[in-house]
Amino acid sequence: MKVLMIGAGNMGATFAEGMSKSSLLNGRKLQIYDKNPQKITEAKEKGIFDTYTKLEDCLPKADIVFLAVKPYHIDALFEEMRPLINERQMFVSLMAGVKLETIINGLKAKKVVRAMPNLPAQIGLGVTSYTESNAVSRLELLLVRNFLDMTGKSIHVETEKFIDASTGISGSGPAYVFYFMNSMLEAAKKMGFSDFDSRVLVSHTFEGAVKLFNESDITPKTWMDRVASKGGTTEAALDCMEENNLKDLIEQAAYAAFNRAVELGNE
Ligand SMILES: NC(=O)c1ccc[n+]([C@@H]2O[C@H](COP(=O)([O-])OP(=O)(O)OC[C@H]3O[C@@H](n4cnc5c(N)ncnc54)[C@H](OP(=O)(O)O)[C@@H]3O)[C@@H](O)[C@H]2O)c1
Repeated sequence: MKVLMIGAGNMGATFAEGMSKSSLLNGRKLQIYDKNPQKITEAKEKGIFDTYTKLEDCLPKADIVFLAVKPYHIDALFEEMRPLINERQMFVSLMAGVKLETIINGLKAKKVVRAMPNLPAQIGLGVTSYTESNAVSRLELLLVRNFLDMTGKSIHVETEKFIDASTGISGSGPAYVFYFMNSMLEAAKKMGFSDFDSRVLVSHTFEGAVKLFNESDITPKTWMDRVASKGGTTEAALDCMEENNLKDLIEQAAYAAFNRAVELGNE
């Protein structure tokens, strides 16, 4: 199977690197194309890709084509791609806020999958939601899933509404966690800890809590109750969060990202 990645930036290079280990490639190198020569030089240096600087040399023969350019580049890209594609090819978009319909109409293609990845894909711990156009068969979808899973986990969703919704949870979500970490780091430093000690305290607290959660069937709420004893320190902190409606603020933030994803899709 021949797989082509168009766009070798942050997301494209990350996914290409993860997917290059798939056994479905049958030992072939994953192909990568970018119009930016610097990105192609960087991709070439990794020694694991077949790199291309001309679309006509790679696109016509590819079976699955991943799209990882910025959404505002698609008009120019689709125009260039249209004369070089055929009906048997499948297109998988990693682009935020670009609707299936836009890709189907822009490329005059039928088989299109829309995926929403997130940044921890860089270390094989990403989560990607995906959905597909009617023309994609179950078998073809399984192939795509196999490739997406090379960068972490993937979840199939029935409609595009859930792609936009997952943008508000997992797509933008790593930044919410970093926001929380940053606030705790600043509090630790204010209390007098060194930069180094603050980092150890905060990073291990996050890592430990996530591991406890992942290795049990217990809900976060039950874990919170277990940590917080009546009249104790944790209860004082959780009460402060509740009184200040932190939960509602987090929900509002997730919806702000969700709504923005919908808006971007309509622009
Ligand atoms: N980064 C994330 O965390 C993240 C998360 C979820 C989804 N995404 C999605 O992933 C996509 C890529 O994002 P990114 O951060 O990887 O962007 P990026 O780093 O800017 O990479 C895009 C690459 O595509 C190249 N390009 C632009 N037009 C092209 C064309 N016509 N033909 C071939 N290559 C072209 C760009 O070249 P130039 O540099 O010369 O423009 C650049 O090298 C976006 O649509 C974004 O919505 C990203």
